[in-house]
Amino acid sequence: MRQVCSSVRGPDAGRYPTGVSEFSWPDLPATQQPVWPDEAALQRAVAELQVLPPLVFAGECDTLTEQLGKAVVGEAFVLTGGDCAETFAANTADSIRARLKTVLQMSVILTYAASVPVVKVGRVAGQYFKPRSKATETRDGVELPSYLGDAVNALAFDEVARRPDPQRLVKAYHASGAALNLIRAFTQGGYADLNQVHAWNTDFVRDSPAGQRYERIATDIDRALRFVRASGAEPDEFQRVDFYAAHEALSLVYERALTRIDSRTGAPYDVSGHFLWVGERTRGINGAHIDFAATVRNPVGVKVGPTAAPDEILEVVERLNPQRVPGRVSLITRMGAQQVNDALPSIIQKIDASGHPVVWVCDPMHGNTYEAQSGHKTRSFDDVIGEVRGFFAVHRRLGTIPGGIHVELTGDDVTECVGGTAGVSADNLAHRYETACDPRLNREQSLELAFLVADMLLER
Ligand code: PEP
Ligand code: CO
Repeated sequence: MRQVCSSVRGPDAGRYPTGVSEFSWPDLPATQQPVWPDEAALQRAVAELQVLPPLVFAGECDTLTEQLGKAVVGEAFVLTGGDCAETFAANTADSIRARLKTVLQMSVILTYAASVPVVKVGRVAGQYFKPRSKATETRDGVELPSYLGDAVNALAFDEVARRPDPQRLVKAYHASGAALNLIRAFTQGGYADLNQVHAWNTDFVRDSPAGQRYERIATDIDRALRFVRASGAEPDEFQRVDFYAAHEALSLVYERALTRIDSRTGAPYDVSGHFLWVGERTRGINGAHIDFAATVRNPVGVKVGPTAAPDEILEVVERLNPQRVPGRVSLITRMGAQQVNDALPSIIQKIDASGHPVVWVCDPMHGNTYEAQSGHKTRSFDDVIGEVRGFFAVHRRLGTIPGGIHVELTGDDVTECVGGTAGVSADNLAHRYETACDPRLNREQSLELAFLVADMLLER
């Protein structure tokens, strides 16, 4: 069976003639897809998505590829941050602003302390799909489908909530559009103006050690800006920032329905987000996810865990980027603090020897999750830092370039990861444990991480 999309012009990518009004995606094995109980309802949702306007533009995706290309050679550093799983309930102005503010503050720290331009990317406006290690969850003898992200089902543990509902796909599109609209307003309309560096540091974080250290940077920046203005300059770059939206390309029905041919270049783009990544569980070379990522022209990422074989990753990179466009592919390694030194080098060496221009990004979250005694899924801040240190050390040893970090964070004062100067302890986890999926760094832990990474960048 091939999935036929009749109302959207499909990918050419050498496989399809340009200008076709109908195309079919190849029928390849696709893991981690929900079992939708009502096929007709699914097709109705897909048909709705196929005619909705793009959330992002092809030109923006190309600009991001170019900026990522700079990270390949060490002329920029990529900062990706946001929720593990966005939820419709938390898609509010306050929550979006807090997350954006955290990434902006981290970016100021990195830019100021390490003098490196930062490519800012949010796990936002589309991060509504989750792969799971188990298809079902059992509580007190009751077995239900696992929570697969708000675009599929709801988190509450009851039969109705956990049943996949295709209208949620449509809702995810609209929620993403609303979030992106606000982010565009914030980043282009003055909120992200460098003159606001102090304003981002208000509320609870200001009095923390990281907040105070940030405040000193902000004061220096203010002074420098006054000097620049007094000299008669007011560069546009100070008032606006580019901020890109990223999510895991997990749901093939959703991503395919939002794939369009760009009228300018005739190439297919997934217009659901600027940057899409393929997860650790779905990156098989013969699977539908890698085929999808190979088809669209957006910049793409691939998660790489400790069991990945170097040959296998090279094959994926070749498939995704036969033309070797710098910045087209990011390899997002998530080895775990204990394994990074052993597992990372052979993969880097293989890719480096091939000459492929990839961005090396460290995800210090997904290899470091464990269950606390209280039963909460958590991560230790020391492990997070440990993996980033290991990542930088391996690259330094091999003479390759650490190009960015990819973290799960929130702008709020949550207690989900233990440690850091914030001193979240295992006993404290229940206090504000709000994530719908994996534990996120809180704002203070995020700033602290940025300061530590800035130091590592200086030594790079
Ligand atoms: C994620 O980034 O939320 C995720 C599930 O990561 P991974 O595929 O690396 O496990
Ligand atoms: Co996660």
